[in-house]
Amino acid sequence: MRIHCKVVVIALCFGVVLLFYFWGGNVADGPLQKEVAVEGSRNSLSSSVKRDHDVGSKLVRRSPTVPGVRSEDLPKGRKNANKVIKRGGNVKAKSKTGRATARRPRKEEFMHLAMVACGDRVEETSTLIKSAVLFSLKKIKVHIFAEDPLIPQFKEMFRQWPGFITAKFKYNLYPITFSVGNADEWKKLFKPCAAQRLFLPVILKDVDSLLYVDTDVLFLRPMDDIWRMLKSFNSSQLAAMAPEHEIPKIGWYSRFARHPFYGISGVNSGVMLMNLTRIRSTLFKNGMIATGLSWEELLHPLYQKYKNHITWGDQDLLNIIFHYNPECLFIFPCQWNYRPDHCMYGSNCKGAEEDGVSILHGNRGVYHDEKQPAFKVVYDAIRDFPFDDNMFQSLFYPIQAKFLDTVNTLCGRIPQVFLKQIEKTMKKVFEENVIRHIRPHD
Ligand SMILES: *[C@@H]1O[C@H](CO)[C@@H](O)[C@H](O)[C@H]1NC(C)=O
Ligand SMILES: *[C@@H]1O[C@H](CO)[C@@H](O)[C@H](O)[C@H]1NC(C)=O
Repeated sequence: MRIHCKVVVIALCFGVVLLFYFWGGNVADGPLQKEVAVEGSRNSLSSSVKRDHDVGSKLVRRSPTVPGVRSEDLPKGRKNANKVIKRGGNVKAKSKTGRATARRPRKEEFMHLAMVACGDRVEETSTLIKSAVLFSLKKIKVHIFAEDPLIPQFKEMFRQWPGFITAKFKYNLYPITFSVGNADEWKKLFKPCAAQRLFLPVILKDVDSLLYVDTDVLFLRPMDDIWRMLKSFNSSQLAAMAPEHEIPKIGWYSRFARHPFYGISGVNSGVMLMNLTRIRSTLFKNGMIATGLSWEELLHPLYQKYKNHITWGDQDLLNIIFHYNPECLFIFPCQWNYRPDHCMYGSNCKGAEEDGVSILHGNRGVYHDEKQPAFKVVYDAIRDFPFDDNMFQSLFYPIQAKFLDTVNTLCGRIPQVFLKQIEKTMKKVFEENVIRHIRPHD
């Protein structure tokens, strides 16, 4: 009997000790985490020299899962960090996971980038996305609207990109669709791909703001910098574009347009920043009906009224809309949508001469022919850049060297126009990496 009692007491004590042990273990997780984070920063500091090629290093090289199914929530990250430590995994994995866990904000904020890819545009689109992801600081969610046969090609391409790059963005692929109103009628009215961007506010209902770009666009500067312009909108602005031309006298709209357009030379819709929340909630003046119309209600009657007068499709419709609603548009300078038009008749984009090109827009097919080699040099270099390499060595120096061959062309005449921002961006991305790793020590 007494022996039984002793056994029970001993078992109870053991149970209590176990309880304390587990409780203590959980509490200890906090300090442990901090230790890991510090170790991580020390680690990266010592290896910062090596880091100049490691563009994405500030973002975690976590398991290279398929984008779109990666879970981003904090508790998981925590668990992972601890698991790695307990397993005694290698130092590198430990520090990186730890660092991310310690610093990631509670809810991750994405920048949203959208494009419409049709025909033979997979390579061009992938080069565009590459430039956006390589140079950006914050993470990006890419919304790709693509013709059906292109969709598996995109999936395969992203699967081949290295993990440290895919960790910097997520993507969604959508079929070309007018999932609004009478889809069949829309299809009859518009060429399927041309008008897709007009429907973004209606299709992407969960997205607050979005940067739309044509597929022949390249970022030479972090997307973060144009994204920040959303915060400069006043209370009536809901979209931002660059002028179609700097010199109205030789611009297309002022000479030929047979419909209303924005301002004195129209706007170019190849780079368009949109606050979709505002677009969805605004009633637009329209010159047809005295009461305003919502974006969705507006498109069809507008098209019906002007279809025989428009040349450039949806860009013309946007110009008509903002002609009647000029207070809704924010105009950004030409270096954010730099086209051959800005140099092929002589340089006319002052902002690019001063600051360099921020976003390059190779329309007129100049990435794929020999007409404007200055544009093609930049495109080729970004397309051919091997991801996991030194950016100065394999991206900037080749552009700089090849640019020498273009100085006899009108667009290549001032290399600094094309090179200034690229060089700045690479320094910035490099410094950002180093600084982020040093900061917790200060
Ligand atoms: C877009 O506009 C809405 C409504 O005015 C606002 O709440 C939101 O913060 C804006 N988005 C951005 C990124 O500025
Ligand atoms: C916002 O800026 C635009 C362009 O400068 C202007 O037309 C509009 O009146 C401004 N809106 C407000 C509410 O100040």
